[in-house]
Amino acid sequence: MSEPKIILSDVSKIYAAGRGTIVPAVEHVNLEVAPEDFVCIVGTSGCGKSTLLYLIAGLSFPTSGQILVDGKAVTGPNAKVGMVFQGDSVFPWLTVRRNVQFGPELRGLSRRECQRIAQHYIDLVGLTGFEDLLPKELSGGMKKRVDVARAFANDPDVLLMDEPFGALDAMTKERLQLELLKIWEQERKTVLFVTHDLEEALVLGSRVVVMSRKPNTVQTIIDVPFDRPRDLMLKTSADFQRLRRRLWELLHQHEAAPA
Ligand SMILES: Nc1ncnc2c1ncn2[C@@H]1O[C@H](COP(=O)(O)OP(=O)(O)O)[C@@H](O)[C@H]1O
Ligand SMILES: [Mg+2]
Repeated sequence: MSEPKIILSDVSKIYAAGRGTIVPAVEHVNLEVAPEDFVCIVGTSGCGKSTLLYLIAGLSFPTSGQILVDGKAVTGPNAKVGMVFQGDSVFPWLTVRRNVQFGPELRGLSRRECQRIAQHYIDLVGLTGFEDLLPKELSGGMKKRVDVARAFANDPDVLLMDEPFGALDAMTKERLQLELLKIWEQERKTVLFVTHDLEEALVLGSRVVVMSRKPNTVQTIIDVPFDRPRDLMLKTSADFQRLRRRLWELLHQHEAAPA
């Protein structure tokens, strides 16, 4: 068996909220993620999902515990770890093409290579023909496609996605899920994908990490047994609906518990 890509050992992040109050954002989290795993993280608002991604990205540091990526302790942002947020992070003054080329340009690749990479991902996310438009000329779904293309163009090993499709309407979201599945089939990355949409977690993920609130920690991890490549018809199967129900119960069972 190969080495885990990411290891979190007893990771806690405690914020000081002033006047001596402390906010445990995540507590005693243990998690191992294998290379090319697609892990979805679900849990109620405030249970520490974003905090977990920031810690893995090296944008924030644990109060205690240890995080390893490729066997090395995380000491800060790492070019091999990319992130996609819920809002768009496209540069409004750059065209679609220049937005996607931005990362490869920063890495100092030749102009030709930057153009080749950008076109490859623009095609993969379905933006062919829109290369010269500016973000203000794009719909929300198209901007999200630019974000996804940009993340892949940076060629990360690990992709951290924090409710990336959360602001999209249901149809657009489904189309983006399909695009993401298609890209991931071609270029397997280690993906951690936060969502509050249980169907999204089961369509995309190979495993779903269910987090609890108070304590903000990993409650359960479920394996998602559906064959790949997947399509959206999967959602109509009885097995899918059974697993969705189980996941729903896991989340709500916790909510019903006394505070
Ligand atoms: N910078 C911060 N300072 C203080 N508290 C924070 C900070 N970031 C997050 N928190 C708190 O930590 C908890 C987890 O937050 P977060 O990771 O954003 O949850 P989620 O993404 O699951 O909604 C929440 O109670 C939140 O209010
Ligand atoms: Mg969040």
